[in-house]
Amino acid sequence: MNEAMNDAPQLRIRNLVAGYAHLDILQDVSLDVRKGEFVTLLGPNGAGKSTLLKTLFGMTTHKGGSITWHGKEIAGGKPKQFLANGFGYVPQGRCNFPQMSVDENLEMASYTIRDGNIAAERRYVYDLFPILHQRRNEFAGNMSGGEQQLLEMAMAVLRRPEILLVDEPSVGLSPQAITLVFNELGRLHKGGRTILLVEQNTRKAMDAAERAVVLRLGKVIWDSPTSALGHDDLGDLFMTGRVQEPSAHHVAGIH
Ligand SMILES: Nc1ncnc2c1ncn2[C@@H]1O[C@H](COP(=O)(O)OP(=O)(O)OP(=O)(O)O)[C@@H](O)[C@H]1O
Ligand SMILES: [Mg+2]
Repeated sequence: MNEAMNDAPQLRIRNLVAGYAHLDILQDVSLDVRKGEFVTLLGPNGAGKSTLLKTLFGMTTHKGGSITWHGKEIAGGKPKQFLANGFGYVPQGRCNFPQMSVDENLEMASYTIRDGNIAAERRYVYDLFPILHQRRNEFAGNMSGGEQQLLEMAMAVLRRPEILLVDEPSVGLSPQAITLVFNELGRLHKGGRTILLVEQNTRKAMDAAERAVVLRLGKVIWDSPTSALGHDDLGDLFMTGRVQEPSAHHVAGIH
């Protein structure tokens, strides 16, 4: 368990309803994330996992419920407010500038920091991800998928977020690249960051994270330490919303 972790939830989501225009995708979502915790958010396609991360970055329509961050209400805020509050977001899919070098991509990311010192920010990130330093003059689009994923994580980490929201970082990557990305996520977590990770590679995600939250049809149907959830139960949970033989540790939502 991480030293930075304590009992007060850093992020507290209660009865959250959010979506797009007239569509309510998240229905009554409640979830706590403690400081320094590594939580993986799992669920079938279309469950609302990306919508939840987007909502935690002010990119959906807030319809109801509460998101408190260190006790302050932040639901319905704009992305720049989430950024200012210490949220870092790495969206699903490629999100770098492919025809710019690694150096230039990091420079673009540092423009989001008021009074940011581009050279210092880059040094900070290159110390964390030496592999990016080696590739600093390469066009981002010429790098491997794994290296591009690291760059995208680095572009978010550059702002030193307190919580990192990462959506499906392993999609389309080779097994070696997946290992690389998960190693880096593990290192970021050990460095004290709170991580909320959406993953389709459920085995890797459950190995890496301390807690698993399962979302289905816009609702939290499971919330437990990863050790209390059998990997083989995920298929049942995704399909039916229940495990065949409910475990004693099962916590559906937060009461
Ligand atoms: N911009 C949007 N406008 C309208 N509906 C959307 C939008 N983005 C997603 N949706 C809908 O919201 C629902 C949840 O989508 P979301 O992308 O959050 O699921 P997900 O759990 O991340 O799925 P996946 O595993 O496929 O990435 C889906 O029905 C989807 O069609
Ligand atoms: Mg998604």
